[in-house]
Amino acid sequence: MTTSARPFVHDGIAFGCDYNPEQWTPDVWDEDIALMREAGVDLVAVNIFGWSHLEPRPGEFDFRRLDDVIGRLHEAGIRVNLGTGTASPPAWLTRMHPDILPMAEDGTRRYPGGRQAWCPSSRPFREAALRLAERVAERYGDHPAVALWHVSNELGCHNALCHCDESAAAFRRWLRNRYGSLDPLNRAWGTAFWSQTYGDWDEIGTPRATLSSRNPAQALDFHRFSSDELLSYYRAEADVIRSRSAVSITTNFMVTAHIENLDYWSWAADMDIVANDHYLDHRLDDPNSELAFAADLSRGLAGGAPWLLMEHSTGAVNWQPLNKPKAKGEILRNSLTHVARGSDGVCFFQWRASVQGSEKFHSAMLPHAGTDTAVWREVVELGGIVDRLGEVAGSRVEAETALVFSWESWWATQNDSRPSKALGYLDQVHSAYSALHSLGLTVDIVPPGADLSSYRLAVVPGLHLVRESEAAAVTDWVADGGTALVTFYSGTVDEDDRVWTGGYTGPFREALGIHVEEFAPVEPETALHLSSGATAHLWSERSRATTAEVEASFADGPSAGHPAVTRNAWGSGSAWYLATLPSPADYRALMARLADEAGVRPPAVVHGGDGAVDIVRRRGTDASYLFVVNHGSAPIVVEAAGTELVSGALIARCAEVPAGAVRIIREEAAA
Ligand code: GLA
Repeated sequence: MTTSARPFVHDGIAFGCDYNPEQWTPDVWDEDIALMREAGVDLVAVNIFGWSHLEPRPGEFDFRRLDDVIGRLHEAGIRVNLGTGTASPPAWLTRMHPDILPMAEDGTRRYPGGRQAWCPSSRPFREAALRLAERVAERYGDHPAVALWHVSNELGCHNALCHCDESAAAFRRWLRNRYGSLDPLNRAWGTAFWSQTYGDWDEIGTPRATLSSRNPAQALDFHRFSSDELLSYYRAEADVIRSRSAVSITTNFMVTAHIENLDYWSWAADMDIVANDHYLDHRLDDPNSELAFAADLSRGLAGGAPWLLMEHSTGAVNWQPLNKPKAKGEILRNSLTHVARGSDGVCFFQWRASVQGSEKFHSAMLPHAGTDTAVWREVVELGGIVDRLGEVAGSRVEAETALVFSWESWWATQNDSRPSKALGYLDQVHSAYSALHSLGLTVDIVPPGADLSSYRLAVVPGLHLVRESEAAAVTDWVADGGTALVTFYSGTVDEDDRVWTGGYTGPFREALGIHVEEFAPVEPETALHLSSGATAHLWSERSRATTAEVEASFADGPSAGHPAVTRNAWGSGSAWYLATLPSPADYRALMARLADEAGVRPPAVVHGGDGAVDIVRRRGTDASYLFVVNHGSAPIVVEAAGTELVSGALIARCAEVPAGAVRIIREEAAA
């Protein structure tokens, strides 16, 4: 049940970590707590994976260790972000109920021995997990150390899509609820094609592995169902806690590069505070820009309110093909970029590096090598800075640009049988976002259909699945004077994955003033040249402008002579369309033109430098805070006045931000 949010009450910006004390003996706990105090840690997540310790045998509970750990943290003045402990079932539970184990799309079960090995629809799992959550909530619901409830852990990280019989039955229930009867389902799924018409609900299953491609509308609904199923699980745990504790409740989202299974737009309202885990992804061209995007999306999910960075890393993770440590100063730059973009906390996974188990090569605040390390010194330095930023808590980020983001479009874009396998939804979003980020523009990430009235510029990258009302939210706003950029493959299908006919871009078409007849994607390494001199990749289309002006056309490739960039005057605004993926420099140049036309500027003027700069303003009641993060190897100068909170220096007109440094300037008078 969604109820009104309970505020997360914390003094200043939280600084903390996941702590897994089950791995250590009590003498280590004492050392840990002393070092946490040295680093300024004030919020510690415990009992995330505690189940087998709390309930070693069915129905037999033992809270002594957790009592002790929470008691020691409390005595040291450290608050607790308390896990319900249900993230991974104990071995006895899967032995008693092997059907708890999730099933992959090929019909094979996944074994225990890792983590999160439970089917989201499993009744025996839910019953056992809620029983544990109830015991934990009863015991600690009023404990003065508990500052926040942490339901499960990264729900859906590994187990979002389960194909077992229990999941199939739950999927059918969900479908009955959505469609009422089989006729609308058959219509929505287009089952007339390939002899797929259903005459009985029991004929319907999850989209398991097929010989050919699967029904794409069924796959899309299965994504929706799977996201809803885990949300209902979250709600069940949250309800158990809510009746036993007045403290705010959340779970850690995974707004990050590679997790697509949960539509967090539908989850966010259930969180008392949105919390996110973020790890730099070195497989991407621009990990810093992705970090900024993820932080902006977390803020979007929070509706612009402060959110909480629940986990990130001090160095290497252990789950990428190559796990890179951070460069000098990068812990600070990453952490403070999240704060710049609205986080009221900086927390890490995990406190002390494990010496056993799957994550022993994952970095931690306290590394294997101990406190005589660069990582530890940077952690302590960061703790000091976070402590000085208390007044920033509660302030809100200012943005004039919106970017429309949709999990449904992500799912639909990456369905089987699409025009090009090289086309990825998130890649399109990141490319557009990177171009804006490289210009220093602050971007709010908004859901389809969002009210755009407070923005000057809106970017709609690859919004493949769109409802008429969602397109109208953009085009009506343009008619009222907005400037929008819509990019290729947007407006292709409706909510049932049914093509909008009459020319691609469907409900955007008229406002864009174009008629797109055919897609003509190209091999990813093929360069396309535009009449403007720009280069592009991946995509071209055969179209003509109806009312739009052609700003650039394809000079070569399968769509030579057709428009690549168009601009249509629509009401008192303008609707731009981009039919290809420009090189990063050319995308940036295009966004600069749009920003100029829309009158959008970075929050302050920056001079010099040789790399990316994150520059964001958070506005509080009495002051605003200008965050400047210099990722480059040359100093920059920023035009700003006020007090610099990292060093305490007074700034009259300009501040130098050395290479790799972060500056946070309190601007007393409204900027
Ligand atoms: C996630 C999990 C943690 C840990 C980290 C490692 O964020 O929540 O338990 O596995 O990943 O990066």
